[in-house]
Amino acid sequence: MPTTPAHPRFQVVAHPLIRHKLSFLRDAQTPTKLFKELVDELAMLLAFEATRDLALTTVRIATPLEPTDAERLAEPDPVLVPILRAGLGMVDGIRALMPSARVGHVGLYRDHDTLEPVAYYFKVPPDVAARTVFVLDPMLATGGSAADAITQLKRAGAQQLRFLCLVAAPEGVAKMHEAHPDVPIFAAALDRELSDIGYILPGLGDAGDRLFGTR
Ligand code: PRP
Ligand code: URA
Repeated sequence: MPTTPAHPRFQVVAHPLIRHKLSFLRDAQTPTKLFKELVDELAMLLAFEATRDLALTTVRIATPLEPTDAERLAEPDPVLVPILRAGLGMVDGIRALMPSARVGHVGLYRDHDTLEPVAYYFKVPPDVAARTVFVLDPMLATGGSAADAITQLKRAGAQQLRFLCLVAAPEGVAKMHEAHPDVPIFAAALDRELSDIGYILPGLGDAGDRLFGTR
C-alpha cells in the first residue's frame, strides 16, 4: 500500500490550525453542528492556499487621502463545484472568502458494492471554460468520484481546475494522478489506507452522514 503517492501536484496544506481542527473533525464524539463548522473552517484554510496564484488586475481607486493603484482579482469570478452531497459542506467557508464565486454542482454517489461513482446531476455556468474551477469534496478515497467529476467538468469545457479535499487516501491520489495529472490537489491530510469497504483509515467516517446527521 503506497503511503507517499506519486503526484507532483498533490499538496498537504501544513498548518497548526488545520491539524488542530482536523483532530476534532476526526473525533467520533464531535456533534453535527460542530462538524459542519469545522468543515467550513478547514475549507476556508485550504482555499487560502489553493487561491494563492489567482490572477490579479490593477485598478485605480481613491483612498480618503489620494488616488492610488490597487489590485483586485481579475474577472471572471471563479466557480466552486461541490460534489454532492458532502462537498456542499465546504461551500459556505470558501464563499466567505470569495463571495462572488459562482457555484456549480456535480451529483455523484458511490455504489456501495462496486465503489464506482454513479452520476445523477450536473450543472455549471455555461462559460466555465473561462473560469477557475475549485472542485470540493471532503473525502478522496478510491478517487473514483473526484476523477469522474473532473472528467465531466473537462467535458463541459473547464480548463483551470483544482481539487480541494479534507482527507485523502494514497489510493485516491494515485487514481487522480493517473486520470488527471494536470489538476492540483490541496488536502488537509493524507491518511494511511482504505479499509476493505472503501473507507479512509483512520479517516473520519462517512462525511455526508456526519455533515447532515443521516446516521
Ligand atoms: C463520499 C465522498 C466522496 C466519495 C469518495 O460520497 O463525499 O464523494 O464518497 O469516495 P471515492 O473517492 O471512493 O469515490 P458518497 O458516495 O458517500 O455520497 P454522499 O456524499 O452523497 O454521502
Ligand atoms: N466517503 C466517506 O465519506 N468517507 C470515507 O472514508 C470514504 C468515502
